Amino acid sequence: FAYQIGIAALAYLLGSVPFGLLLTRLSGAGDLRTIGSGNIGATNVLRTGRKGLAAATLSLDLAKGAAAVLLARSAFPGTEALAAFAAVIGHCFPIWLRFNGGKGVATTMGVALGLAWPIGLAYAVVWLGVLAATRISSLGGMCAVIAAPVAAMLTGHGAYAPVLALLTLLVLWLHRANMARLRAGTEPRIGGKG
Ligand code: G3P
Repeated sequence: FAYQIGIAALAYLLGSVPFGLLLTRLSGAGDLRTIGSGNIGATNVLRTGRKGLAAATLSLDLAKGAAAVLLARSAFPGTEALAAFAAVIGHCFPIWLRFNGGKGVATTMGVALGLAWPIGLAYAVVWLGVLAATRISSLGGMCAVIAAPVAAMLTGHGAYAPVLALLTLLVLWLHRANMARLRAGTEPRIGGKG
């Protein structure tokens, strides 16, 4: 049982590294929490006008999720789902930011890829597809997290469906302000004025 606590703690710490906040601060682009939606994710980094930084944020937030799962699998096979959950919790509730973190879309894609690449692939296809069709980042992310547990079941990785479903609920809950804006028709589009 001690090793499970260790894996969960390590995955949480990995997930809690706020790359978007760190990169924007280090590059002199200011405090992300005072820009746009105030979120610390890649979408909001993009609102600073720094495309490279946004791509780096997306990649690193994704990589830390995948790394947590892969590390867990190689150290203690069977702890992947726990690590997946803990890494996303770390991203969304980092101790360093008084538990006010991101919304989990990129990190959940990372853990999905780490759990089983077909789930990650389905996640990416839904995310990019909805994003391309609507240019609304939050909508793409929400559709992708909903697709994740379904993709797990359809690709023969049903064992991961429960943890992914839990993450779906978490990520949707963290998007409640986005859902309110979507209903009001005021959610900004990527590349738009907002
Ligand atoms: O991953 C976060 C994204 O889904 C929404 O970000 O900044 O538009 O609230 P934001």
